Parts: sequence; C-alpha cells; structure tokens
Amino acid sequence: MAADDMPSDTIDDLLAEDRRFPPSEEIKADTLVAGTFLYDEAAADDEGFWARQAADLVSWDEPWHTILDWQLPYSKWFLGGTLNVAYNCLDRHVEAGLGDRVALHWEGEPGDTRTITYAQLLDEVQRFANVLRSLGVERGDRVNIYLPMIPEAAVAMLACARIGAAHSVVFGGFSSQALADRINDAEAKVLVTADGGHRRGEVFPLKPAADEALESTPSIEHVVVVKRGGNDVTMVEGRDHWYHELMAAADPVCPAEPMDAEQLLFLLYTSGTTGKPKGIMHTSGGYLTHVTYTHKYVFDLHPETDVYWCTADVGWVTGHSYIVYGPLSNGATQVMYEGVPNFPGNDRFWEIVEKYGVTILYTAPTAIRTFMKWGAEEPAKHDLSSLRLLGSVGEPINPEAWMWYHEHIGGGRCPIVDTWWQTETGGIMISPLPGATTTKPGSATFPLPGVSAEVVDDAGQRVERGGGYLTLTRPWPGMLRGIWGDPERYRDTYWSRFEGRYFAGDGAKLDDDGYLWLLGRVDDVMNVSGHRISTTEVESALVSHPAVAEAAVVGATDATTGQAIIAYVITRGGADVGVEELRAHVAAEIGAIAKPKTIYLTPDLPKTRSGKIMRRLLRDVAEGRNLGDTTTLADASVVDELQRRAVDAAGDD
Ligand code: PRX
Repeated sequence: MAADDMPSDTIDDLLAEDRRFPPSEEIKADTLVAGTFLYDEAAADDEGFWARQAADLVSWDEPWHTILDWQLPYSKWFLGGTLNVAYNCLDRHVEAGLGDRVALHWEGEPGDTRTITYAQLLDEVQRFANVLRSLGVERGDRVNIYLPMIPEAAVAMLACARIGAAHSVVFGGFSSQALADRINDAEAKVLVTADGGHRRGEVFPLKPAADEALESTPSIEHVVVVKRGGNDVTMVEGRDHWYHELMAAADPVCPAEPMDAEQLLFLLYTSGTTGKPKGIMHTSGGYLTHVTYTHKYVFDLHPETDVYWCTADVGWVTGHSYIVYGPLSNGATQVMYEGVPNFPGNDRFWEIVEKYGVTILYTAPTAIRTFMKWGAEEPAKHDLSSLRLLGSVGEPINPEAWMWYHEHIGGGRCPIVDTWWQTETGGIMISPLPGATTTKPGSATFPLPGVSAEVVDDAGQRVERGGGYLTLTRPWPGMLRGIWGDPERYRDTYWSRFEGRYFAGDGAKLDDDGYLWLLGRVDDVMNVSGHRISTTEVESALVSHPAVAEAAVVGATDATTGQAIIAYVITRGGADVGVEELRAHVAAEIGAIAKPKTIYLTPDLPKTRSGKIMRRLLRDVAEGRNLGDTTTLADASVVDELQRRAVDAAGDD
C-alpha cells in the first residue's frame, strides 16, 4: 500500500501498543467457545462448518441439497432449502414456550417505554404482514421503510420477510431527495413512515419529508404512517393510511410461508466511490445463518439471562443484522432506544444500562470518543455492574478509546469485541471471540471461524506482516448477492482490483503476532461517525447548487467523528454565496450527516497538469500538515492560498 494512504497517527498508535487482555477465568468458565475448536473445525472444512451452523441455528422447512454454488463473483448458499426468516425470529420461540420472553425493552427519548414480548411481536408482525398484503404487496415486491427508532421499524421489516417482500430501509436522517432516489431505484410499491420521531428533545418531522419525496416516486401506491411524533401531517385520501387504523382492522393470522433460501430479503443502500448509492442485496438462508451465528458467538450470548443493547439505528446495516435479525433469531432480550445519548443529560445511555440491567453493549467508536469528552463522571453516576461484554463497530477504534471503554464502562472486567464488517458482508467477519481470544486495544484480532481474510500488497500478493489491502478470499453465507440493477458495478467495485479476491476498500496491517489492525478506507469513501459517505456524493450535491462551479471534498482526521467532511468550493464567476447556505444545501440533498464540517471558498483547486484534483494535498491542508512535493501541480500558488485560508479559518475558531 502506498504510504500516503495510511493514516499516520493510526500507525503510530499501534506501533506503541503492547498491552494484552487474555480472557479472564471468570469468562472462560461460562463461555460458549473457550479454546480453538470452532476455528479448527472451520479450517478443516469451511463449507461443512457453515452447513453445520445453518442446520444447528436456523429452522428450515425443506433441507438444502447443495451447500454452496460459487461462480465468482456470485455465490448461492443452501440451494434447494426453504425457510421463513420471520418464523425463525418469532414463531419458533413462541412454539418453544418462550412467548412471554421480552423481545424488546423499548425506550422513547421522552422517557415513555414499551415492553414487547415475543408473542406480542409475533402478533403485530402477522397483522402487519396482512396489512401489506391488503395494500397489494406480493412476494418479490419492494417496500420502503423510513421510520424513527420505534418497534414498528422491526415489525415492518419482519412483516416483509414473512410474506417474501424485500424491504429497503432508509435512515430517518436522510433527506427527501435521498429517500426519493432510493425508492425509485428499488421501485418500491409501499412506503412505511411516521408522522415524526423524537430527537434531542424535539419532534423531527418525517412525513413532510416523505411527502416531498412522494412527488417524484411513481411506483409508490400506498403510504402507511405510524403516529409517533404527534406533529401535524397531511394525509392524501386513498394513498395514505394510519398504521393504527389498518392494524386494528387486520386479520391476526398470517402463516409463515416457506421461502427459497435465495429469496431477496432486503436492499440496503450504501455509499460507494461514485455519486450514486448502491442497493446492496441480501438474501434469506445464508444471511440469517451468518447473523445468527455471529450474534451468538461474538457476543457469547446467553439468551436466558442476557440483556443486549445495540445502539445503532435500524437504518444502517448494524441495525438490520444486530438489532433485528441476529438477536431475534437467537431469542435474545434487547433494549431499543429512540433518541440521542445526551438527552436529557449526558448520562442517558448509562441510565438505560442501569435501568434495564444491560449485560452486552454494542456501540461505535465515535460514541465512545464523545463519552470520553463528556467525562468519566457521567458513567460513574450509574451502576454499570450488569455489563459483562462490550462491542465496537463501524470504524477503527483507537487504543485510547478502547482503554477508556474498558475502564470506565466495562469496569476493567468486560472483554471488548472490536467487530469489523460492512453492509456488503452482511455480518461480522473479523472479531475476537470473547472467551477464546487475547485482545489488544485497537485490533479487531482475527477472522472469525469460517471467514478467510488476507492482506495483500499493490500487486495482489499476500502480505504476512505489515500493511496492505484487506481482501476476503472465500465466499461466506451473508455475503452480498450483488448490487440491485447493476451487476457490472458489482463486479467492478469488489472483484476487479485483485483477481479472485473480494476487495473491501479498507487498508489493514498484520502485526508480528498475526493480529489484524484496520486502518480505514483507502478509496474515496469517508467514514464520519461510523457512517459511510462518498466524497463524490457530497461533491455532486455541492455542484448541484447554482452558485457552485466546482467542488472537491476530502475526509480529514477528526478526534471525535473519526473523519470530518471538508469541502473546497469554487463559485461560479465569483458568485456570492454563504458557506452556511451550502452546508444546508448538502443537508437537503443528502441529509444532515453529509453536511461538510468546513467549507473553504477558493478561487482555484490544486490540480495536476492532467487536470486531476490532488486530494491528498487537500487532505494535508485540511489536517494542517506541511505539504510535501507540490512540483506536479499545474499552479503551486493555489496551495499557498488554500493554506493561508485554512490557517485563517483555524484562527477564527
Ligand atoms: O471501513 C470499514 C469500517 O466501516 C466500513 C463499512 O461501513 P458500513 O458498510 O457502513 O458498515 C458499518 C457497520 C458494519 C468498513 O469498510 N468499519 C466497520 N467496522 C470497523 C471498521 N473499521 C475498522 N474497524 C471496525 N471494527
């Protein structure tokens, strides 16, 4: 890997890291996996290993006749097998006598709560499946979901799964434009949304944003609206329906029909290196096997006693795999929280952990770094002794944040599982197993049993020690089945860089003990607070403003959010436009998460003589580094000017 691509502070951190955390005797006494037996079994025969997980952890209507059909880059798993994903997440637990077990301890941001058992969730899902059917949704159709973090999000997803419709969940923070683009790409028939939700002490309206999107989404025939925010909404006669009204009239019985193992379960849109988000496709049998297996073993789940809490939003893949499908398939009891971590106080998360006796907490490094900023006194206000395991996901966790998490949240006794995976992988790929792996702060350690990951150099040669590109060498059951409507892009994006290998887009390093250290993206994808945003997407949004002639966007290292979005903008004929207006424009085009932290208006951008924008240089400017070689620039004075502006801006802070 080119040294330029490596975030240098990450390398410094990990060079200094020699702390080790072996599993404690206490954990080993009660873990599902002490020792290496799972690794050994998978190493001997990975297909057979996955087949055993599928047979042990998932209930099938018809058994499969073929474990894997692998025609690079396309895999099919458990061919001939049939199952119903919703049956696996609900009915089978109720049939086993666990109907009264709590599935969701839901907590609204204002403090209202709902406790939903498996039996109740099953009832609600059956009714909503019938509602969807009554609105004309059939097997193979797509349903869009645009909801706050409320139980109805899980209900809607599972109802789709029950009748074989694919869902496409769009994060509630995305703009109407982003929603419209995703609905149109998927050609969804029905949209499930809410009047609004609660966030940071206020009601944020969702239906008005949906209404705007609906002006340009001809495929949508019906809209179902959950009442949550209590804000005023306009309902279009014949098209828009209240959830509670439809549910009250719905038939309570909707038998779970067997679906093919390769039935499309969902689309989830994620940013790539172009402006157009990709609809990542996941199917049923392999995906469910993967998330059930990883949720069980990575979190060392004891469903009778654990209270699990994943703080992600269902709009992201973490919410799909580790709030909805993995935990429910395992019959776990979990907490679901609607709001932000600092409402009404900076200790809201810790209040929730104490209140519900959370034993397993799964959150993101950005959140941990934010908690560090707020101070150790916040968690110290609460009894966190119920916690026994901590997880991290979404971005590299720096050793300092790892240690803080370990000490101030985990009380020095909880193992930390740093889990690497992607929307595309469907489930966790690289992670410690808490009872078996000695961890090092900041390292995701090793591929899970059944997963084959390798680091390669620029030429695609395997690297045994040192830095390179992370690749996956064998198919896995939860792997994406393609990009919706764009098979060529699927091949190009993931399978063309290194022959025969899936390229994840991440840099990684293997240390002398063979531990993997993830080093962040090496492509034009930024990772802001664990959310993927492409530089091109933000550039396109900026350029769509009438006053903008050209824009270049880079991700600069940020102490809290991992990366921050920095934009350099050339206006048309020196047009007078405010930076705030441009930030608001990006928020309207994509969503508030994509708003640049800083925008520099500049008369010019540094380009090579062939006209390519020099992003590395812009990153250096944004991060305040001394610039190296600028001799390839067409006009070196551009950079002097940019640096001057950056210094001025820093002075303004
Ligand atoms: O760069 C890696 C980073 O997040 C990317 C995947 O983003 P997304 O598809 O949105 O899924 C996020 C939740 C799984 C990866 O390519 N990433 C994710 N987990 C880690 C990580 N980077 C380092 N360490 C992790 N544990």
